[in-house]
Amino acid sequence: MTIQERDGSVAATARRAGDRVVRGPVGTQSNRGDAPVSTESVTAAAVERILGVRGSRVLVTGAASGIGLAIAEAMVECGARVVAADRDREGLEIVAKRFAELPGEVRVVTTDVTEPEQVQAAVAEAVDNWGGLDAAFANAGISLAPGLRENGGQLAGTDPDRWRRVLAVNLEGVFSTIQAASVPMKAQQSGRIVATASTAGLRADPLVGYSYAASKAAVINIVRQAALELAPHGIRVNAIAPGPFHTNIGSAVGAEGWKPIDDSVWARTVPLGRMGDTSELKGVALLLASRASSFITGAVIPVDGGTLIAYPG
Ligand SMILES: NC(=O)c1ccc[n+]([C@@H]2O[C@H](COP(=O)([O-])OP(=O)(O)OC[C@H]3O[C@@H](n4cnc5c(N)ncnc54)[C@H](O)[C@@H]3O)[C@@H](O)[C@H]2O)c1
Repeated sequence: MTIQERDGSVAATARRAGDRVVRGPVGTQSNRGDAPVSTESVTAAAVERILGVRGSRVLVTGAASGIGLAIAEAMVECGARVVAADRDREGLEIVAKRFAELPGEVRVVTTDVTEPEQVQAAVAEAVDNWGGLDAAFANAGISLAPGLRENGGQLAGTDPDRWRRVLAVNLEGVFSTIQAASVPMKAQQSGRIVATASTAGLRADPLVGYSYAASKAAVINIVRQAALELAPHGIRVNAIAPGPFHTNIGSAVGAEGWKPIDDSVWARTVPLGRMGDTSELKGVALLLASRASSFITGAVIPVDGGTLIAYPG
């Protein structure tokens, strides 16, 4: 990885520390667009100092599939110790095998995030084995209701049981995760919490139901509220707001009575013209779990191919 800086300060620090330069100068000076002014590079050691999570103790909920799986993988690939929590035991076992050869460590804990004691047990898994918790991703979520244009997706058809179930997982589950993670983090006076919200929490979205939109908007405000409460304890709380990603939820695979969403929808509604791949969330996860984000809290970071700047479709 190469980071170019206008003032060259990171590169200068790296040179002083005598780190090995891993890549030569890149780019050329340009007076148009975003071309780099400086052509200096930074070293692998400097990148590790800034973005590194090696040895960090991390909890990821919803880690058996999709976005949570990618986040957990990014952490373990970079040498973190991860508690992978999910209600899907079988999925977790596959994850444990898949991560076995990676540099970090993984412990799996079957967890239903709608049960606060189970979330506390997942946090305890990190604290009891590794002595604390540095980062927590409150990611588990579901989308049971069809979008506005499907039967059952409108006000009149909204099913109260599904409404409650979505709020229980997406909102109360995230709240319980932030609550449980904050306990050891307050004791340490440090920590990073990241919730997976959605662009559907930031604007109307015809492809999701009322319960999902409501839960994601609420998650965003809980993140801001918790960021305010926890800042004096050295704990940062942020949200990622993904646009459409290829996952079980995103591809609407297995949802009862849903029509899979046609790819032409993404060409029309996403400026970058496609769904995201979950690997495209790894960088922002590392940013928010590392000291690279040391001055970011209460933020909502869209990773959406430009969805929020486009017509909802
Ligand atoms: N895929 C998208 O397009 C998209 C867009 C915006 C936001 N999101 C959000 O990303 C998060 C992850 O979803 P995904 O897209 O990876 O879907 P996914 O279905 O692939 O993964 C969700 C994971 O959460 C787990 N889970 C569900 N309910 C749980 C519970 N009660 N307790 C513990 N684990 C539970 C599932 O078993 C699964 O492993 C969700 O919060 C979702 O709302 C997804």
